[in-house]
Amino acid sequence: MSDARSLTRQAEDFFSRHPGVSLMALGSGEHVESLDLAPFGMPVRYLPAERNLELAAQYLVLNQFAFGGIGVPRWVLSDLYLLPGAIGLLRCPARMLEPRARERLGLADEDLAIGAAYYAAPSLTPGLFIGVSLMSFLPGGGVGAWVKLLTLRMLRAKRLRGVAQWDNPSVRVHARLGPLRLVGRVPGGHEYGERTFVYETDVSDDARVAAAMERRLTLEPTLRVAVTDLPALGGLLDRADAGEVLHLVPPGVEAGHVLVREG
Ligand SMILES: CC(C)(COP(=O)(O)OP(=O)(O)OC[C@H]1O[C@@H](n2cnc3c(N)ncnc32)[C@H](O)[C@@H]1OP(=O)(O)O)[C@@H](O)C(=O)NCCC(=O)NCCS
Repeated sequence: MSDARSLTRQAEDFFSRHPGVSLMALGSGEHVESLDLAPFGMPVRYLPAERNLELAAQYLVLNQFAFGGIGVPRWVLSDLYLLPGAIGLLRCPARMLEPRARERLGLADEDLAIGAAYYAAPSLTPGLFIGVSLMSFLPGGGVGAWVKLLTLRMLRAKRLRGVAQWDNPSVRVHARLGPLRLVGRVPGGHEYGERTFVYETDVSDDARVAAAMERRLTLEPTLRVAVTDLPALGGLLDRADAGEVLHLVPPGVEAGHVLVREG
């Protein structure tokens, strides 16, 4: 089976395991022509943010719920998410959401709700996007990785840089798309600077992405470092900052340890 067919089959399988879930994008109407609105053959409904204020308000509530003190401020949502780009969304009946998120939205069972969302910002470098916000309230496994991958394909991203914390479950979600090359510390610092790193994922090779999504991509780690060992992890970032090639290999974190491959 070709790589693109394999990803299409995996995406079909994902949606068949989550009936009632559909793919949408929310962004300035200006961008509709720039996007791939059938990533891996899955149809995306484009919702211009200028005319979908309620959906934008729902995104804001859920983002602030998911990220607490560092949730997106409203003006950042409009100026830096919706004007320059588009958020990928999985929408579903509210009854499918985890109870705390559903309560926060105060919706009835059959009302439509955002079940998961990913935003990656466009950058100055062609093909390179910057992962900003990933959230999922749909239990069932694997939803975060799928909303991320479908959104990146919709954006026509070739490479992704993102910021993560060693001890966040999302590292396993990010590593679902392939090895994470350690780039180094966050430019300009970060609220959680002491446990935060920048990674890069190459999403240009469908064969590799397809294998990684199915956890068939196995690369032996040469080092295992506890997610709590901040001095050792800081040492890795120094090495990456100095230009050494280091990757977190799938599944990224295992039994409280980061899986690192040197070279
Ligand atoms: C991170 C988040 C998007 C994951 O959602 P999801 O993809 O639907 O979650 P899943 O249940 O499929 O779990 C994803 C992975 O994390 C692992 N995981 C889940 N909870 C975990 C925990 N408490 N500790 C360690 N790993 C955990 C799962 O095993 C899974 O990995 P696997 O598929 O390799 O087994 C979701 O929890 C969320 O929205 N969190 C709040 C916002 C946030 O922190 N976003 C990430 C930073 S940008």
